[in-house]
Amino acid sequence: MIKRAFTLFSGFLVMLSLFGCSSNNIKPNDNPINNSSSDNESNNSIVVYFSRTNNTENGANYIVDVTNSSSYEILAKIPYTDDDIKYYTDCRADREQNDPNARPEIGSEAIDLTGYDIIYLGYPIWHGQAPKIMYTFVESYDLNGKTIVPFCTSASSPIGSSATNLAKSASDANWLEGKRFSQSATKIEVESWLKSITY
Ligand SMILES: Cc1cc2nc3c(=O)[nH]c(=O)nc-3n(C[C@H](O)[C@H](O)[C@H](O)COP(=O)(O)O)c2cc1C
Repeated sequence: MIKRAFTLFSGFLVMLSLFGCSSNNIKPNDNPINNSSSDNESNNSIVVYFSRTNNTENGANYIVDVTNSSSYEILAKIPYTDDDIKYYTDCRADREQNDPNARPEIGSEAIDLTGYDIIYLGYPIWHGQAPKIMYTFVESYDLNGKTIVPFCTSASSPIGSSATNLAKSASDANWLEGKRFSQSATKIEVESWLKSITY
């Protein structure tokens, strides 16, 4: 009886050590959900996003929940007012999107991306493309060797060339195919997309 209890207990210890030692590094054909860890600090993925009216932020928060990633919000140093985003009125956002050289400054504190292998990169579609501040981000950081998973929200436009154009500004990263969500994406939609990804 004592021997049986001891055997069961050692089996339990072996299980504990196996789970405790699981690695967070990307493995071939890994999936974000398998790759997630219950320990936020030791996870190797981060959700980096820009969101002016919270739609993309909601999606970003679902990714954080499901994958246990860290998160970083890109904020504009000069915040976009409501007038700045009234598109098709020659508003600030319209002018920036039409200006190939526009690189709006980031106001949020710089982040150390060392230790993050996977970056979920989220943004709203602005005139069919990523907002220019996303270019500021990808051009300011060393993304060499990182896996980037783009996602976006829009009223109706597809992701189109928005992610592939952004990728040209950080071509030393490994860019996965991006995903577009509606303005009111649900957690179920986000989770089912995450389940379909393999690195
Ligand atoms: C300047 C500007 C341009 C936009 N251009 C498009 C567009 O080309 N196609 C589209 O479907 N939605 C467009 N939208 C709508 C946003 O993509 C949509 O509302 C998005 O979900 C906003 O995300 P956010 O709440 O994270 O800022 C545009 C919005 C703004 C402010």
